[in-house]
Amino acid sequence: MKNIILSCIVCSLSAVGMLNGQNTSVQNIDTRVEALLAKMSLDDKIGQLNQVVGDISTGTDVSKDDLLKQVRAGQVGSILSHTNFENKITLQKTALKSNLGIPLVFGFDVIHGYKTIFPIPLAQAASWDMDLIERIERVAAAEAAADGQNWTFSPMVDISYDPRWGRVMEGAGEDPFLGSRVAEARVRGIQGKDLSDPTTIAACVKHFAAYGFAEGGRDYNSVDISEQKLREMVLPPFEAAAKAGAATFMNSFNTINGVPASMDKHLITDILRGEWGWKGMIVSDWASFGETITHGAAEDEVDAATKCLSAGSDMDMVSGVFQKGLRKALEKGRVTQAQIDEAVRRVLRLKFALGLFDDPFRYLDSKRRAATLEKPEHRELAREAAAKSMVLLQNDGGLLPLNPSGPFRRIALIGPFADSRTNKDYMSFWTLGVGNPYYDSTKVVTPAQALKTELEKKGFLLTVTEVCLNATCTEKDYSLARDAARDADLVILCLGENGLDCGESRCVSTLELRKEQEKILKYLPSGKPTVMVLFNSRPMDFKLAAEKAQSILVAWQPGYEAGNALADVLTGKVNPSGKLPMTFPRSVGQVPIHYNHLNTGRPQQNFGQMWTSGYLDQPSTPAYPFGFGLSYTKFSYSKISMSKSAYKRGETVDVSVTVTNTGDVAGEEVVQLYIRDMSADISRPVKELKGFQKIRLEKGQSKIVSFRLSEKDLSYWNRDLKFKADPGTFKVFVGGNSRDVQEMSFELQ
Ligand code: NOJ
Repeated sequence: MKNIILSCIVCSLSAVGMLNGQNTSVQNIDTRVEALLAKMSLDDKIGQLNQVVGDISTGTDVSKDDLLKQVRAGQVGSILSHTNFENKITLQKTALKSNLGIPLVFGFDVIHGYKTIFPIPLAQAASWDMDLIERIERVAAAEAAADGQNWTFSPMVDISYDPRWGRVMEGAGEDPFLGSRVAEARVRGIQGKDLSDPTTIAACVKHFAAYGFAEGGRDYNSVDISEQKLREMVLPPFEAAAKAGAATFMNSFNTINGVPASMDKHLITDILRGEWGWKGMIVSDWASFGETITHGAAEDEVDAATKCLSAGSDMDMVSGVFQKGLRKALEKGRVTQAQIDEAVRRVLRLKFALGLFDDPFRYLDSKRRAATLEKPEHRELAREAAAKSMVLLQNDGGLLPLNPSGPFRRIALIGPFADSRTNKDYMSFWTLGVGNPYYDSTKVVTPAQALKTELEKKGFLLTVTEVCLNATCTEKDYSLARDAARDADLVILCLGENGLDCGESRCVSTLELRKEQEKILKYLPSGKPTVMVLFNSRPMDFKLAAEKAQSILVAWQPGYEAGNALADVLTGKVNPSGKLPMTFPRSVGQVPIHYNHLNTGRPQQNFGQMWTSGYLDQPSTPAYPFGFGLSYTKFSYSKISMSKSAYKRGETVDVSVTVTNTGDVAGEEVVQLYIRDMSADISRPVKELKGFQKIRLEKGQSKIVSFRLSEKDLSYWNRDLKFKADPGTFKVFVGGNSRDVQEMSFELQ
């Protein structure tokens, strides 16, 4: 039977244009899908909509467990999180022996690298370097593809204002414009130009939608959100990813205004498939079809299957709801055969587009695997990425970069992250937990390892003192830190969060450095020059460090090349150019906090000003604003130049500024453009990012940086439920962060 099916469908078409568009290959895929669909029984069809978990959860030998039986019986369309390469071959062979021999598609969370571990996605976003992000994803996808994965549950494009939420590490931060550009870059990197190229895999844009707006920053919690906020803050990156050709989407766990996202017809059918015309396949999140029952929005599996399928969802990740409920739902007349067929078509189209029918083993070539995984150039890219992601928040007196001819020769490297390579450090939960089992602590270059070599080469002397490694810092830890600092000219403190402090289900109610690490600063001899390096997955607060440390460098969770990248930045080999993709609050009490807030009727100008929108105990401004990050050089901005002061609708608005490197070394700057609509029909944010460019300037060099705004950029989701630009005054701002900007106005007529 397998041969008959394969012979009727084999042809060597590429799936260019992915699943959108109507080019020849898509039409050919459609013909092949219809031919196959006509042969499928109801059980075959329901089987294709079923995704089950592989060895990452069960840890079992597939030959012994139930998985093979289910695959052989045609009850499985996809397996997620399967690691063992040989077993994937066995599973694929077994699928080919099932009734119609439909190949499996293997899905995997490739979140910040597959075998080569890169910085967390939030860190990557801090690079504001879309080419870099695309290259990272290209490598991650090529490694995953070579290891038999065909599909990644990435990019996560959830916007969030809430650093308490553990999953902010997985997104691109708080801004929908930056988030959209990152989403597109990730899709381009993962899928390449052609999904049928076996070094590319299918992307899965998640979590649709509004998962990052969970109440209280608590994972899986409910979301209450206006349509306007949904359209302006949440959906743009999803739309951008859909338009970039993303093959699949994933539902989110949360309810949105009471409706579980997996059964939200408004989102899936009206907006995603309707308004955006997206043609791909949508998978549930882990058991989210089943959780519609727990939400209290479905009575049982039949009801859940009916509601999820009817909303437009296609594949059931592990809940078994479709297996248990879909046949009955059909028999009861609650869903139609046509609805089931449509979902199956979408699954089959994906498999055809990936070329799995042409060669089910095209991702299972052991020679390619050996030649692709962890190539040295992948490590080089990981180093470049980690260095370009780091954000310099403070550098009083130009303490950094470390100067071999300066007064500080003896350096004390202190802290829990100085040399530790346990699988709790430097890496996010995704690299440690169910997401990626490939984390190998022996592959991490620690700060101590890299700095020992790099600094001693330059004539510095380095001591390494690990403290606060377990549980709470003890008095002994503090005194060890003090002694090490006393004998040094300069201290580098490596503090932060463990990998297990962030990611899914890892939310926090305080943003202070864990285990009282910051208190180490109190024990250091007064006035000791200090650099704090923060290994973090989220915005944190560190008031004491801001007072006591001259330099603060946000290194995030940088991946395998942590130490080398840090050495590159501390020594000035790489001039830091990262900018915060999320506001860093003064304390958790300010959360949610974001730069693109409304003005209110009583904006606070100064702390303490009564009857304004503020706090009694601290200013309402953040510790570090969105878009902020220092360099070892300085950049000056000219006044903004615009050719006119009034524009007609439909005309583009050209804005330019001259940026000059006025410091002593070459550097990169992220030039950011924001607007404010001053006279819309509703209140508009005080600033909205509408453009950015990352430029490199040699010492003394100037560049004119130009931006073009379209009417769409000036539009907002208005009270008639449409995107529209109102006539009136707009402000335009350009600068190196969202706070320190040049300003100009123009009229839209
Ligand atoms: C649940 C997570 O929410 C989702 O992002 C992930 O892709 C799936 N588990 C599969 O691991």
